[in-house]
Amino acid sequence: MKVAADKLLLFGATGDLAQRMLLPSLCALHMDELVAEDLRIVGTARSEHDDDSYRAFARTALETYLPDDRKPAIDGFLERLSYQPLDASKPEGFDALAEKVGPVEDGLAIFLSTAPSLFEATIAGLEASGLAGEKSRIGLEKPLGTDLETSRQINDAVASAFPEDRIFRIDHYLGKETVQNLLALRFANILFEPLWNSAHIDHIQITVSETVGLEGRVSFYDGAGALRDMVQNHMLQLLALVAMEPPSSFDATAVRDEKVKVLRCLRPISNGDSVTGQYRSGAINGGAVPGYDEELGKDSDTETFVAIKAHIDNWRWNGVPFYLRTGKRLPERKTEIVIQFKPVPHSIFAGKGAQSQPNRLVIGIQPKENIGLSVMAKVPGLDRGGIRLREVPLDISMPDAFAGPKKRIAYERLLLDLIEGDQTLFVRRDEVEAQWDWVDAIRAGWTENGLKPKNYTSGSWGPSAAIALAERDGVTWYE
Ligand code: BG6
Repeated sequence: MKVAADKLLLFGATGDLAQRMLLPSLCALHMDELVAEDLRIVGTARSEHDDDSYRAFARTALETYLPDDRKPAIDGFLERLSYQPLDASKPEGFDALAEKVGPVEDGLAIFLSTAPSLFEATIAGLEASGLAGEKSRIGLEKPLGTDLETSRQINDAVASAFPEDRIFRIDHYLGKETVQNLLALRFANILFEPLWNSAHIDHIQITVSETVGLEGRVSFYDGAGALRDMVQNHMLQLLALVAMEPPSSFDATAVRDEKVKVLRCLRPISNGDSVTGQYRSGAINGGAVPGYDEELGKDSDTETFVAIKAHIDNWRWNGVPFYLRTGKRLPERKTEIVIQFKPVPHSIFAGKGAQSQPNRLVIGIQPKENIGLSVMAKVPGLDRGGIRLREVPLDISMPDAFAGPKKRIAYERLLLDLIEGDQTLFVRRDEVEAQWDWVDAIRAGWTENGLKPKNYTSGSWGPSAAIALAERDGVTWYE
């Protein structure tokens, strides 16, 4: 049986992620009594702090990022926190860290969000100091490598100290409520699954668009680009959840077995089935924004937009294109999955002049959390001039349907699952490697063909070639 850890060790405790997401999430879990009363949290990073000054640092972050109704919990939450400075590149600091953490026989959850260059040294330090004991589990935040080879190195280093069933690779999209709801939609309803295949689905679109630009992440982003930053992880996880076979149960092995099968069926993409772009100056929400090269202060070939036509080579998806697109500085922030069904095989209304449109299911992940199904209906009337049909939406807004439960951010669930040891919403090594395998081949194709990102104006939907990628198949991106 899995036992909840009573200690949490937070690497990168003074970083941006800790301030914006981790500390607020932990404080929310504390407030709602979802973590045990005796859970202790030790933060560590290079910065010099003692317990008191770290608590003051954490207080500032919580005052900034917590919603007002959660702020009364701050004082009580801070009592759980302590801090140990550590230069993770040097082995000698780890004993003091282990001393600060204290006995770990009742379980230790480690959250590692650190520069990739410190990965191996950190794992070695944890092992040597006894912090990687049998009751320890480790959560790993991206970036976990920049290609298959470097990802393998990291996975090997972690595997030398932790078995796979104690490694929790984070993809924060899996912590999003509506992403999990996708599984409920598919597998808790009889309606969709019989139609969920190439006999009835024409194509699928997955869009993850952002309005933000570089946001001060210059050194990281310019070495990554949209394909590695967003497609390799979040978008392929969404694709896997949409396309996988029904797992036998909602548990870590069953779900991840099905996801990895899909990821391994991704067909290497052909030349011409991907488009890359880089934003230039323009306007977002009415305000002028600079171009990527201006923000970066130099020219670069890094793509801030990518659109791909993908195929999954198995029985279910034979011949069904998956159009994926993601980019920064696009007109709106949205993550959305569109299932475009095929037309009815024979329209009984055609002779009466009526045209019918194929059904479409739109799953809004964020910021709109909704499920919309377009269905054809007859326009009311006596139809003397012929029957008219029109598309009408069946629209379920999740916040309206579930007004009671609190809205939780992805890290609340993921941190809780890490503390409690549930791996279902974490990515297994074979999944990550299948993802890299596919993405590396795309990048190799770009290099081979000398593909450079095309410019697009900030506030537009990417380069016109991305529109053409879908339109040459008679498909329009859903906007
Ligand atoms: C991160 C990427 O993984 O996801 C960022 O590194 C991106 O570039 C972010 O902005 C998007 O996450 P969300 O939850 O805001 O959609």
